[in-house]
Amino acid sequence: METTLVIIKPNVMSKNQAGAVIQKFQQAGFKISGLKLMKISSSLCEEFYAEHKQKPFFPELATFMTSIPVIVLALSGNGGVAAVRALMGHTDPKKAQPGTIRYEYGDSVGENAVHGSDSLNSAQRELKLFFSEKELFN
Ligand code: RTP
Ligand code: MG
Repeated sequence: METTLVIIKPNVMSKNQAGAVIQKFQQAGFKISGLKLMKISSSLCEEFYAEHKQKPFFPELATFMTSIPVIVLALSGNGGVAAVRALMGHTDPKKAQPGTIRYEYGDSVGENAVHGSDSLNSAQRELKLFFSEKELFN
C-alpha cells in the first residue's frame, strides 16, 4: 500500500469538475487518506516545484497554481504512485491516452488538470508539505 499526493489543479476547480476527477480516482480503487481545500502560497509553490524553479515555464506555472483554491488529496492504494500517474496520463493532454484524466480534463500542458507525485520519495516529501500526521488517515 502506497500513499501519494494529488492536486486538483485550478482549471478543473474553475470548471466545477473536481468531483468528476475525484470519482475517477475512487473508481480506480484509490482510498482518500487526506483531503483539503487550500490556496497554495507562493512560497509553498516554490518549495513544492523546487525542481522546476529555474525552468522558463515556472513563473506561469506558479501564477496558475496559486491563482485560486485547489483540492489537495492523499490517495492510497496498491502501487499507488505509479498507478495514479498512469491514470493521470501524459503531462501534455494532447499526448495523453483516451480514458486518462489529463486527456479528459486537461486544457494544455500548463493547465493539465492534476498533479501526482512522480516517485515514492517525491510522494513522501510532498505529503509532508501539505499534510500534518494528524490530517492523514489510513
Ligand atoms: P506534475 O508535476 O504537475 O504532476 O506534472 P508532471 O510530473 O507530469 O510534469 P513535470 O515535468 O513535473 O512538470 C510540472 C508541471 O509544469 C508544467 N509544465 N509546463 N510549458 C511547458 O513546457 C511545461 N512543462 C511542464 C506542467 O503543468 C506540469 O504539470
Ligand atoms: Mg512532476
